[in-house]
Amino acid sequence: MVKFEQIKGFVFDLDGVIADTSVYHAKAWRQLAEKLGVTWTDDLADRLKGISRMDSLNMILNAGGIESNYTETEKELFATEKNANYLKLLKNMDSTEILPGIVDFIRDLEEHNYKLSLASASKNSPFVLKRLGLDMYFKNKVDPTTLKHGKPDPEIFARGAEVLNLKPSECIGIEDAKAGVQSINSAGELSIGIGNAEILSEADINFASTGELTLENIKKALNSQINVD
Ligand code: BG6
Ligand code: MG
Repeated sequence: MVKFEQIKGFVFDLDGVIADTSVYHAKAWRQLAEKLGVTWTDDLADRLKGISRMDSLNMILNAGGIESNYTETEKELFATEKNANYLKLLKNMDSTEILPGIVDFIRDLEEHNYKLSLASASKNSPFVLKRLGLDMYFKNKVDPTTLKHGKPDPEIFARGAEVLNLKPSECIGIEDAKAGVQSINSAGELSIGIGNAEILSEADINFASTGELTLENIKKALNSQINVD
């Protein structure tokens, strides 16, 4: 197990970790799914977390057994429609949508000279960070348009360490999605799962909410694991 002292950087997911935008993504997908006659379930909503726009659409069509009913051009139009729904929901977004404890945590990381990067699958992430007033903290971002594979593939979190000039073993990745935790783990970083610990059982450290994200809690969690091993 990695020691706390080895850690030099933190690689953040955005939606569901920095802001509660995963709720808006889900709402926008649900609008489209129901229009296409696909039943919306909590399980589907969970599986969509962290998944790129086109992969999400394919997952929804698969869930309804209608994946072969549409051409690529029609699918592009559906994805564009979902994004328009999503952006409408973000219309009034500002810093009040930042999740609890995140600003204090980021400031604490900066004060202690940790490096920060963003590993979000969302093409909207630069816009969202700006609206939240947090863009100055994330100069180092992975550009999701340059990725060959989406989460759970390790590519995005591996790149999250690379943009910081750090080794994966020197980084902690923070995620609210099962696919995201799997991406962190297979990139060789230490994973923190935010939310349902049953769904995120593969994470090295689980916190029920972002309010628990502090350097002290992370240190405590790691030290207790070292004692058990
Ligand atoms: C992830 C979200 O961060 O980004 C997913 O968890 C979303 O729900 C994905 O589908 C892609 O986002 P966008 O903004 O590029 O459609
Ligand atoms: Mg997320």
